[in-house]
Amino acid sequence: MKIPEKIRQRVEQLHTQLNYHNHRYYVLDDPEIPDVEYDMMLRELQDLEAQYPELCSPDSPTQRVGAAPLSKFSEVKHEVPMLSLANVFSEQELEDFDRRCREGLDTDCIEYVAEPKLDGLAISLLYKDGLLVRAATRGDGTTGEDVTANVKTIGAIPLRLTGKNVPAVIEVRGEIYISRDGFEALNAKQREKGEKTFANPRNAAAGSLRLLDSSITAQRPLTMYCYAVGKCTEGVLAKTHSEVLEQLRSWGLRVSHEHAVVEGAKGCYLYYEKLLQRRDKLPYEIDGIVYKVNRFDQQQTLGFVSRAPRWAIAHKFPAQEKTTQLLAIDIQVGRTGALTPVARLEPVEVGGVIVTNATLHNQDEIERKDVRVGDTVIVRRAGDVIPEVVRSVLSKRKKGARKFKYPTRCPECDSEVIRIEGEAKARCSGGLVCPAQRKENIKHFASRRAMDIEGLGDKLVEQLVDENVIKSAADLYSLSKEKLSGMERMGDKSADNLIGALEKSKSTTLPRFIYALGIREVGEATARSLAQHFGSLDKIMVATSKQLEEVPDVGPVVARNIETFDHQAHNREVIDKLIKSGVHWDDIDVSVSNEQPLEGKIIVLTGALSMPRSEAKDKLQSMGAKVSGSVSKKTTLVFAGADAGSKLTKAKDLGIPVFDDDTLQKVLKGDASLVPD
Ligand code: IVH
Repeated sequence: MKIPEKIRQRVEQLHTQLNYHNHRYYVLDDPEIPDVEYDMMLRELQDLEAQYPELCSPDSPTQRVGAAPLSKFSEVKHEVPMLSLANVFSEQELEDFDRRCREGLDTDCIEYVAEPKLDGLAISLLYKDGLLVRAATRGDGTTGEDVTANVKTIGAIPLRLTGKNVPAVIEVRGEIYISRDGFEALNAKQREKGEKTFANPRNAAAGSLRLLDSSITAQRPLTMYCYAVGKCTEGVLAKTHSEVLEQLRSWGLRVSHEHAVVEGAKGCYLYYEKLLQRRDKLPYEIDGIVYKVNRFDQQQTLGFVSRAPRWAIAHKFPAQEKTTQLLAIDIQVGRTGALTPVARLEPVEVGGVIVTNATLHNQDEIERKDVRVGDTVIVRRAGDVIPEVVRSVLSKRKKGARKFKYPTRCPECDSEVIRIEGEAKARCSGGLVCPAQRKENIKHFASRRAMDIEGLGDKLVEQLVDENVIKSAADLYSLSKEKLSGMERMGDKSADNLIGALEKSKSTTLPRFIYALGIREVGEATARSLAQHFGSLDKIMVATSKQLEEVPDVGPVVARNIETFDHQAHNREVIDKLIKSGVHWDDIDVSVSNEQPLEGKIIVLTGALSMPRSEAKDKLQSMGAKVSGSVSKKTTLVFAGADAGSKLTKAKDLGIPVFDDDTLQKVLKGDASLVPD
């Protein structure tokens, strides 16, 4: 038969492409395209070779099982070749497989074992007299790499088999993999260190197993499931695959609990559907199901074709990695101001779901991966994790594609974006005004330890923001009773109460006000130190990073957060508006407060005092005291107002000095000499 020139050219093209991708996958551990695309090309080549057998050369990519081993490890010859599996993608193809098996065995119904097809890498473990003597990768199926030293670091792999009737020689086969959690943790660690992340758990497992330094392998979360036996001392193994799996388990090897014995194509398909539904919930990734004829005598009758057994098949799940076009990169601002780049994609089906957006994690990731708008990208969606862009397919990059410029201003509020050294995420510094952060910011502003606005709960803040009644904390003070009582679940009385609480909150302290601003990493203690050091808000607002760093517990990161916050005109506007609305506090006389006359004192407040307890507490703390909620042997003294109860009794029992409200007021005015040493 004359072979059309076009077909010849296509076959040649497929050879070149498949060889290229084979090299990237097996030798460089750095695949460029998703597995499905490779599989599709390989399938096309197989089909063409079946149609035109003359085109099937001995060096065709269809004639090899994997890649030649890398030179860094010594070679291992597999006495029993490590084959691969043919794939099916539909119920029809599964029925065809079952029919071929039935015809080959001349029987009506076949018993299969259905197992998850783990997405890791195949391994061969050789045990002699129960002892693990060698571990090897599959390599090209006949020659693999000796990775014994690395495999010995994997906790799930027994170094010695235990139990009854352990064979003198047994070569166990299975899959080394990394769980989803392990993978996420490993990549998070890589990102933190600014190192290259792994594209998927399989890559991570392969890369980890083939490291030259096994002490690094030991830190990787590798594990293993066993699913087959290569060579074995005669007469030990049971007569079916399912029984052998039990035997392996009894010798201390790890075998999945997911496998099931099923009947015929129907049984296989039912199992497939059930596991597909649970796929995302499994703790590890699987890319399909493997069906194996259960009886070994039947397996033997069926035998092998060139690359794979006739008695087993892999039924592939929808792929979890696909290519698509990157239409745009948007920057999303989270509730706490963190910026996340999001890829807008040409819609693509990944793992059975249409994906239009995917995360690009952070600035470094975009730069490291050099992802550009207009690129063909690989998108991955696995488990419950949000879809992510794994990489760009560089060979498909269009001319003129430009590097992505990370924004220096917040896309929501135009405030400056800051990125602290060592932190992966950049953040918006417009805390008081940024619409993305509004709700969280106002909730924090109103909270008990900040402005303490009683009756302004989280739900109400959300409602007020959603209905555009308030845009920033400053708008709270212009809320009218009419506006409030019109809100859902808000009666006249609660509206009155809230107006009262807002009025009351206007009288505050400098540390509380600083804390209420919600500057990143400025907690109560830092707010107090700042107030004591500078004495007034104006001084803080104009302080340089250097001056800020002079404050105890303010390091360079916090100083920069404060400085950038202060520099945002929007933030200043909100502060001015708050002050204009009547929010006020007493500035602190720095010369007095710096002395910390109550340092080291542990004070308890109880009973009714002539000022709100929280205010007394703030003031005592600003003088250096620790204010505790309960009396113990460590308590220095107790201030007891009217109607004090059990705390007063306990203080008296323990012989701790007790003072009244009058003395407290005097102490707060600066007469610390009244407090005992
Ligand atoms: S049996 C002769 N069972 O899939 C049959 N393989 O393409 C040998 N795999 O190289 C394989 N889970 O790495 C088998 N439960 C399972 C499997 C499994 C994953 C991998 C294995 C193999 C490839 C076949």
